[in-house]
Amino acid sequence: MNDPFPFGLEGPTAFYLVLYLSTLLIHIVFMNYVLAGSAYLAAHSVFRGRTNEESPLAELLRDWMPFMLSAAITAGIAPLLFLQVLYQKHFYTANLLLFSRWMAILPVLIAGFYLSYLLKSKLVHRWPLAGRAAVGCGTFACFAFVGWSWVENHLLSVQSQQVWEKEYVDATLLYHNTELLPRLTLWFLAAFPTMALVVGWQLWYRQGRNGDGANQPVLKIAGSRRTAVIAVAGIIISTVAARYYWGKMSLDTRDTITGPVALPYLVMAIVGGVVQLGAWVPQYLAARLSKKWLIVCTAGLVINFIGMAVVNEATRLAALDITELYAKHKQAREVGGLFLFLLFLAINSGLMLYCLRLVRGGWQAAPKD
Ligand code: HEM
Repeated sequence: MNDPFPFGLEGPTAFYLVLYLSTLLIHIVFMNYVLAGSAYLAAHSVFRGRTNEESPLAELLRDWMPFMLSAAITAGIAPLLFLQVLYQKHFYTANLLLFSRWMAILPVLIAGFYLSYLLKSKLVHRWPLAGRAAVGCGTFACFAFVGWSWVENHLLSVQSQQVWEKEYVDATLLYHNTELLPRLTLWFLAAFPTMALVVGWQLWYRQGRNGDGANQPVLKIAGSRRTAVIAVAGIIISTVAARYYWGKMSLDTRDTITGPVALPYLVMAIVGGVVQLGAWVPQYLAARLSKKWLIVCTAGLVINFIGMAVVNEATRLAALDITELYAKHKQAREVGGLFLFLLFLAINSGLMLYCLRLVRGGWQAAPKD
């Protein structure tokens, strides 16, 4: 493979990889909101007083957390299906070897889901600090556990048969790998700029809906400035974490990332990060959230996401010989189903748009506050 991704790959493999990455990116947007948002709420539950009036960000995150979690879970299904078609034995073996740990994702997600509802309730606001902190930190711990499980599963899935055999013989519940901590840290830190951007748009929408809010200038500035600070800090610190992770990667992986397959995407990832930084600074200086700078940030994030998705996949392509799976991908492609896939994509997108319109209609009819 000497051409930029996906051109050096055979048609069916390229087709599934592009679909996999496109759907994974949707999962990552919501997952980032959940991971970084619940971390923010955990910190807020520990460090702030009983009221949340002074933090429009925390209030908004609490309100949206259960919805964003359901969106993250739902959006995880499509990449999960493509992942199985793409990597087959590797994915299933890692799942089986980590079985109990892996299956624990389900009850933990359910617990996290209910805790995020509890976090929203007025009752919890009246609880003493210890109780509020337990709910806030407990919610985050559940989502962090799920993120850790995915990273652990990913790392085990790209190992060789000898590693799998050792895992089986040792029958351990956890998989230890020197990449685990840097990789998980990177995913966690990189979640903050996305969360800040989505929250930025939500606050911007609320700002427009409540008029110019001349009676709430402090809230406006605090909300817009805090999102900018979170985003800039997230970009800078996750870049440092990425540099550290780079040091832990094998030479083969580094060569693939800087080779013809992934280099253009590495450049895209960096350019996307710089564009975001360039847009968050004037956003910080402005008193209000500006649509113009939010659009530039979004463009930067999209460029960065596409770049990072391919660079991330390149690390897996460096570890596995995907050409061995060409025949299986071709066979899967011949089974058909594209028409049904597109049909349901159109129906479900239509239904989602309809739901959004219903909610928006409800908001517009509701009294403003
Ligand atoms: C709060 C819930 C969740 C969190 C915090 C989370 C977090 C993550 C993280 C950190 C990764 C990156 C793993 C890596 O490449 O090392 C990931 C990947 C992924 N997640 Fe999620 N996830 C959540 C829920 C789900 C659910 C419920 C599904 C499926 C229905 C799902 C499907 C996927 C898939 C398919 C990948 C790609 C795995 C790979 O490339 O090996 N996620 N998730």
